[in-house]
Amino acid sequence: MDKTLQDTTVAAAHPTIYLKDYQPPAFTIDTVDLDIQLQSDHATVRGTLTVRRQTPGALVLHGRDLALQAVAVDGRYLQPEDYQLTAETLILPDVPDQCTVSTWVTIVPQTNTQLEGLYQAGPEGNLFVTQNEPEGFRKITYFIDRPDVLSVYTTRLEAPLTFPTLLANGNLIEKSDLGNGRHAAIWHDPTRKPSYLFACVFGDLAVMTDQYVTSEGRQVALEIYAESRDLDKCHVAMQALKDAMHWDEVHYGRAYDLDNYMIVAVSQFNMGAMENKGLNIFNTSCVLSDPQTTTDPANFYVKSTIAHEYFHNWTGNRITCRDWFQLCLKEGFTVYRDQSFSNTLQSAAVQRIDDVSSLKASQFAEDAGPMSHPPRPDHFVEINNFYTATVYDKGAEIIRMMATVLGEERFRAGTDRFFADHDGQAVTVEDLLDSLSNGSGIPLQAFMDWYSQPGTPHVGGSGIHDPVACTYTLTLHQSTAPHPEYPAPKALLIPVATALFDRKSGQPMSLIRDGQARGQSDLLMLDQEAQTFVFEQVSQPPVVSLLRDFSAPVLLDFDYSDDDLAFLLAHETNGFNQWQAAQTLVNRVLLQQHAANVYLDAVSTAFVQAAATDPLLASRLVDIPSENYLASRISRDYDPVKVMEQRQALLGALARRLTDQLPVMYAALPLVPYVDDAEAMGRRALRNVVLNLAAQAGLPQAFDWAERQYHVASCMTERLGALRVLVHHQAPHASALLDDFYQRFENEALALDLWFGVQASQPHADVARLQALLAHPRFDLGTPNRIRAVTGQFSQNPVNFWQPAALTIYTDLVRTLDARNPVLGSRVLQQMGRWYTLAEPARSAAKAVIDSLTGQVHSTSVVEALENLQRAG
Ligand code: TRP
Ligand code: ZN
Repeated sequence: MDKTLQDTTVAAAHPTIYLKDYQPPAFTIDTVDLDIQLQSDHATVRGTLTVRRQTPGALVLHGRDLALQAVAVDGRYLQPEDYQLTAETLILPDVPDQCTVSTWVTIVPQTNTQLEGLYQAGPEGNLFVTQNEPEGFRKITYFIDRPDVLSVYTTRLEAPLTFPTLLANGNLIEKSDLGNGRHAAIWHDPTRKPSYLFACVFGDLAVMTDQYVTSEGRQVALEIYAESRDLDKCHVAMQALKDAMHWDEVHYGRAYDLDNYMIVAVSQFNMGAMENKGLNIFNTSCVLSDPQTTTDPANFYVKSTIAHEYFHNWTGNRITCRDWFQLCLKEGFTVYRDQSFSNTLQSAAVQRIDDVSSLKASQFAEDAGPMSHPPRPDHFVEINNFYTATVYDKGAEIIRMMATVLGEERFRAGTDRFFADHDGQAVTVEDLLDSLSNGSGIPLQAFMDWYSQPGTPHVGGSGIHDPVACTYTLTLHQSTAPHPEYPAPKALLIPVATALFDRKSGQPMSLIRDGQARGQSDLLMLDQEAQTFVFEQVSQPPVVSLLRDFSAPVLLDFDYSDDDLAFLLAHETNGFNQWQAAQTLVNRVLLQQHAANVYLDAVSTAFVQAAATDPLLASRLVDIPSENYLASRISRDYDPVKVMEQRQALLGALARRLTDQLPVMYAALPLVPYVDDAEAMGRRALRNVVLNLAAQAGLPQAFDWAERQYHVASCMTERLGALRVLVHHQAPHASALLDDFYQRFENEALALDLWFGVQASQPHADVARLQALLAHPRFDLGTPNRIRAVTGQFSQNPVNFWQPAALTIYTDLVRTLDARNPVLGSRVLQQMGRWYTLAEPARSAAKAVIDSLTGQVHSTSVVEALENLQRAG
């Protein structure tokens, strides 16, 4: 086969879908009756749809991997010549404008390894669950499987009595013993919903129950289903659920609308969790939490994920997306909502630090690589590849900018309007912006450009003080690098929160601009390529603080002196802005070869001070960007060894600078019984940071502290923090403690993931270590958490990751997953995104390994990811 022929075949098998081609479907489906009967080696599904014509055209139902047994229209069986069957569709060219269509199919959930549609979750064979977002429902029954078709579902589930747990969306209507060793349950969901929100579960699960009374007086039964051995790890999630329900009532006026809310924990799940109407399905990693097995960040993530999925009930479920291009309509808004909720769980400053550092590490990096795309893409090949940091996190930042511009009250008026305008509808990003504008009285449509173009804007500038006129003139400019498919990026509306500090007193000044008093913080609206802003009555040269609270998702490159940044680190009034000053300094040291002294002096002073007053903030102030983040800022001739060495040298210098303080600090943080609050979490985080710095500084006591901490630990944060220091610094007893950890947690899957991860992320881990972990008897290709624990952690060390031998292990895994679980295979492959920035010969070597996949992978997800990679560079 010659090259061109091959390319067209690939393109035909994986067509590109365009936003501009959107058409409503010819038919909609008002009601769905599903009957799913689980047998030992297959399942049968009867779907009965009442369909209604909307526009001219045939009735086209989607279906994938379904064995069709029969089709009937209004009770009359069709003959094969009455319909067309393709690999992906069932077409009924000629049905009445209103009719009932029934299909009978068989499916094989027992061998479905893709974790989409109805699949067996776990090797024991006693749990089957669904995952239908975005397009899994077509793997269960023939349907118009797109989010703008909203239907009322009634579901009958039938299974052997060995599956006592039979769940679907909505209310349980009846449950009956069929007398033949089987039973059945009928569920009815009164709310119209798209197919991606359908869920059902067949299992033998234990349940934790509670209840919540909504602000409207509705009594809601809360149920969390898990394996009985894990049931006592569900308390954190249950409390978070009640907190989230209350929070949404207070902050958005949104109460829950059904009589029950169910959450099911499963170990085999591709993502974090899924917001199916009234029946969330969760990765165990996002619902189970116990001090002995769960770290503080993971415990925190449980709470925020519970909130995220709950908040989807309004932003996603009651108001859903017209098409998958609008994914950020529900995800960006919902991430913004869960981030705001999380402000109640730790200081707002640290919450913003954590959100911004993950935005920079994942979304900025994504935007700098071959997957760069707008938050609302205008084309895709495989929608599964677009559940990205850009859609989620940049999407959240755009909502945040609008909320900042509006202020609390007007933002609430805008969201109230959105819920009033669109409850029960499938809508677009434009609809959201129109409602926010109309409700608040402030037009926000200018923000649409943020949704439509990719890339991280750069904002630069400078300031001049005029002592005679008493003005401070700030000039800001912006630019976004062109993308091959978006060659002429527009100037965006960028809100820049700004303060001026008095150099002598260190105090923020009262600002006057355009003759108007602005208080101590002014929101500058940069919407041109270059713009000046003049502050009046400024008698002394100030220090300007820009982009406070990270008011826009941009890269700021202002011509501060390093001393100005040190000043801001000392005087800024909130922890986020202090952290941001420290980050700017550290980036200058590592990426622009600035001398390290100003940074080291300023950050060590701030660190020691904050340690005494705000340990959680202190633990973040000494953040040094990861090697992968630094790499994302290097566009060519990237040398992983050099970046690693520079980063290590700076970490070493910081540790040595703090040598005298570390023993005092560690002693001031005694190990105490576990408490789940922000203060205790702060002390644990700081203790681990101090321990790591002590090991880095080569303090002779460091390993003794760590070993003691490991043994007397009150919780996993302390135990893993100690183990990590010992393993990563190759302490003499590290391997004995790894064995001890394994014995303790052999039967705790999520803790065992940590055991895999701490070894995979070891800086000295080599290819042999990677191979050993992948060959370990407890490594499991069916459990995405385990795969991520190894591949995700190993790639934290780019020096090791970019070895051709390691890359080959990754591509072998991609080939395996391409057949088994393409969604996950694509994610593993995407870790190689920035191969083209490597210095030679590593660049060509990486390219050769990537190219070896050509023609060897077949799933739409992996093929699209591979073609993206190959196009780069
Ligand atoms: N909608 C889910 C969320 O953000 C995401 C999700 C869960 C998902 N499972 C998935 C997306 C599987 C794609 C495929 O809360
Ligand atoms: Zn979501």
